[in-house]
Amino acid sequence: NEMTDWSKTLAEKKLLISAGGTAEPLDPVRYLTNRSSGKMGIAIAHVAALLGMDVHLIRTESTLSLPVLPQIKQSVVQSAVELNQKMLAHEAEADVIIMAAAVSDYRIATPSDQKMKKTKEANGHLTLDLIENPDILAGLPKDNHYVVGFAAETQHVLEYAQDKRKRKGVNLIVANDVSQKEVGFGSDENAVYLVSETGHRLVEQQSKIKIAAAILNEVAQQLDN
Ligand code: CTP
Ligand code: CA
Repeated sequence: NEMTDWSKTLAEKKLLISAGGTAEPLDPVRYLTNRSSGKMGIAIAHVAALLGMDVHLIRTESTLSLPVLPQIKQSVVQSAVELNQKMLAHEAEADVIIMAAAVSDYRIATPSDQKMKKTKEANGHLTLDLIENPDILAGLPKDNHYVVGFAAETQHVLEYAQDKRKRKGVNLIVANDVSQKEVGFGSDENAVYLVSETGHRLVEQQSKIKIAAAILNEVAQQLDN
């Protein structure tokens, strides 16, 4: 039947997946971060492992309270630069790469070695100097594996997602409409569009585990073509 066909395609294949929000240090006790819970990426890692994939999960420190099945290989990172290093160190082994992490677009240009002190200058204002992080997904080699990215958008979801897919050179974009407050960040449910070269398909609101299965089903179908 259909279920066994697509799961057979994925069984024994190697998945490299990132999950969670990166945190960018200001000083030893402070950082800039985002609202990603890591639940969507970890749900994909779980479904993949249960389908027999060999899964390496690279997750951020902010996700450490979420339990992960013991057969999943794990690495933990904090910043975008650390995540980039881990992804580049392991991409060559992977058949499928899924970049579910919410990566900070910028980091603090010069984090302080010591805890920052309040200053009396500048009339109560503090200006942070930010510098752009590497685009990890765009920079990954695309030969020899199937690559999936995510896109969180508040408007023009399909148009922006298709642009992102082409710009980053990836096979599939999982697009979230984050203007819908009930789903997405932190929630146990999500609704997404799967955007590929051949068009898009809506995966309606349901649990992140079911969304994870729909994403992996799409990956398997595309690998079979
Ligand atoms: N991504 C990445 N490295 C970055 C920023 C994003 O690898 N420095 C990845 C994310 O993990 C996601 C995809 O790129 O899979 C899209 O992330 P998103 O933030 O939606 O796209 P950006 O290119 O950062 O564009 P913008 O935030 O301006 O919409
Ligand atoms: Ca971004």
